[in-house]
Order: sequence, then C-alpha cells, then structure tokens
Amino acid sequence: MINSALMNVMTSAALKAGRGLKRDFGEVENLQVSVKGPGDFVTIADKKAEKVIFDELSKARPGYGFVLEEGGIVEGADKSHVWHVDPLDGTTNFLHGLPIFAVSIGLEREGQMVAGVIYNPATDDLFVAEKGHGAYYNNRRIRVAARRDVAEGLIATGIPPLGKAAIHPRFKAELASVMTRAGGVRRLGAAALDLAFVAAGRFDGFWERGLKSWDMAAGLVLVREAGGYVTDADGGTDIFGAGSVCCGNEHIHKQLLDLVKKA
Ligand code: IPD
Ligand code: CA
Ligand code: CA
Repeated sequence: MINSALMNVMTSAALKAGRGLKRDFGEVENLQVSVKGPGDFVTIADKKAEKVIFDELSKARPGYGFVLEEGGIVEGADKSHVWHVDPLDGTTNFLHGLPIFAVSIGLEREGQMVAGVIYNPATDDLFVAEKGHGAYYNNRRIRVAARRDVAEGLIATGIPPLGKAAIHPRFKAELASVMTRAGGVRRLGAAALDLAFVAAGRFDGFWERGLKSWDMAAGLVLVREAGGYVTDADGGTDIFGAGSVCCGNEHIHKQLLDLVKKA
C-alpha cells in the first residue's frame, strides 16, 4: 500500500463519501417500487457525496482547485493543484440497484495527473495509485494483464446513452470493428471502474468517447502505475481535451487503437 499523506487524505475522503452512498444505496431498493422512483433521491445522494469530498479535501489541502461533476469548477489560490471529482460514477447502475458504482478522486499537479483513488462502497473495493509509487487494490499491488493478443482479451467500453445520440454512429462502427477481433466486450456502466479493472488486469483494455475529466482522472493514474498505456481514443495525449480514452498493456493498447481508428 502507499503510505503517503496525500493518499491518506484522498482515501479518507473517498471512504467517508462512500459510507453515505452505501447507506443511500440501501434506500434506493425501497424507492424502486414507488411510483415516483428513486431519481430525486439519487440526485441528492450524489450531491451529498460531493459535498463530503469537497469539505474533506478543502480542509486537508486548502487552496487546491476543483473540477467537480456536480459543482463545476472551483478556482483555488494554489494554481498548480486541481482535484477532479466524480462523487458517484455509475449513477444509472446506482439508480437501478446495481452495485457497480464508485467514488473517483484524481489529483492534477502542474498539468499532470499524479494520484487517483476509486472506491466502490457496495463491494468495499478500493483502488489507489500515486505517480511513482505503483497501483494497489485493497492493499495488494496490481498490474495490467499480460495477454498480448486482443483475440484473447476482454475489452470494456461505454455505450453512449440516448443523451449522446450524436456519437451513436461512430460508436456502432467502433464496436463492430472491435468485436470482430476481441475475445469479448463488456459494458459495466462506470468508467472509473472500467479503468480500475484494466489496472487490476481484469479487463485487458478499455475505450470510450464522450467522457469528462472526472470520469477518467483517477483511473488514468491507476492504469499507468499498473504498467499500462493510456491515450485518447485517437492515440493523442490530450485525454481530457479529447474526452476519450483507450488503454491496455502496450500490445493491447496498440491493437485496440488500430481497431478503433479503422472503424
Ligand atoms: C458515466 C459512467 C458511464 C459512462 C458515461 C459516464 P456517471 O458517469 O462513467 O460508464 O459510459 O459516459 O457519464 O454519469 O454515472 O457519473
Ligand atoms: Ca462519471
Ligand atoms: Ca457522476
């Protein structure tokens, strides 16, 4: 595990927010059967989790800036540090009672992602990474999978929902291209966990478009520290700017990128 002050700060904020989310997740099941459904309740749970993280991180590291999914950009006096926070990644899963969701916190320093924490409170799975210190899953060091051929690999992706109809045609073409070569394709519904699972060697690769910095920030550090390669979905380095990602070990990353490119 990583014994740094920074990791302690990030982990304790994620665990605290996660405790609230876990309680609220229990409540969602009851609301599922109500006529109104759990929609508003989940929105509140999401915002509450974000406030917990914001308060914890602001207290521990005064002056750092924020990019919050719900609250937007909060400029800090310290211009070299920015937190990227997704308090609840996998909202649709959470809403439907599926235990595949996570808190995701990433830290950017001087334009580089340097630390990430992803925590699923439903399964008590904690993924952490800090630049130069490796990536860990529940205190065990993790590495990306070693498979070299995408034909043997399990590849994760994100299917753009109704609200992102503009990227449906492109996604269909990319999926068609990848599924003709990959061993299997999965869609979990939480990009942060997709990235964490690549870092842990559960998935061999992952690509998705239409993402935001808070979906990817923590996961990028995890994949890199686990020995993986990460670019945007066109092979570029401006991942946040492109809003897309493609990753895996050196071999899978290249093959997946080629398949996506030729779509
Ligand atoms: C979403 C999830 C999903 C991905 C979407 C994201 P949210 O985040 O990460 O897997 O496909 O693009 O917006 O809305 O659940 O925080
Ligand atoms: Ca998200
Ligand atoms: Ca979210």
